[in-house]
Amino acid sequence: MSEFYALVPAAGSGSRMGSELPKQYLPLAGQPMIFHALNALCSTTDIGTVFVVLAPDDALFHAYDWSRFGNKLQPLYCGGATRAESVLNGLLASEQEPDDWVLVHDAARPCLTQAHLVKLIAEVRDDEVGGILAVPVADTLKRADGTQRIAQTENREGLWQAQTPQMFRIGLLLQALQSARDVTDEASAVEALGLHPKLVASEPTNFKVTYPQDLLLAELLLSQKGN
Ligand code: C5P
Repeated sequence: MSEFYALVPAAGSGSRMGSELPKQYLPLAGQPMIFHALNALCSTTDIGTVFVVLAPDDALFHAYDWSRFGNKLQPLYCGGATRAESVLNGLLASEQEPDDWVLVHDAARPCLTQAHLVKLIAEVRDDEVGGILAVPVADTLKRADGTQRIAQTENREGLWQAQTPQMFRIGLLLQALQSARDVTDEASAVEALGLHPKLVASEPTNFKVTYPQDLLLAELLLSQKGN
């Protein structure tokens, strides 16, 4: 039987937030932001170990109390210059079996729920390729010209926004990331091998905190979850 692992790349600086503190440690609902994603992953019984990939010089992670997650949470100080490099380094350092599954999740998606995880695992565990959480694009899409005017309207039919977790067999993901370094998510690396990962319908609430105003929305959603 294949096992399930989670890997959370958390070695970014989060420069778009305009804060000195790396994004994953910004205070959110009484905890550092990364706590919330780790909590959802560690609370899911199918997932055996949750690896968190930190920058080699990260001096903040150990300042927090993670004891409630016990040995299930394993920090790895091997983050790289890009997200893809952090994931690749983490996979190599975690030394898991090629046939096991890994769910790669951004530290900056704090509103992930156990229901999202249960759905992703159920819909992908028997898949040949793997799959990702995603939502169909809701807005009308405009392509800009060089002067910030609309060059044309794009057809949004069949377009989805990729989220995380992205779930692949460890061997396949290693092969994919070793040959396609210049990617912004795991699925792109797998697609570059000519494969077609599954789209699993998620919710917009699993958004990535990117700009300061996203924190307010995340705070609201997390406070509702707590009630
Ligand atoms: O910057 P962005 O929001 O795209 O980052 C997505 C995730 O990738 C975050 O959890 C961030 O910490 C992580 N990351 C990383 N190593 C990098 C850059 C980003 O682990 N070099």
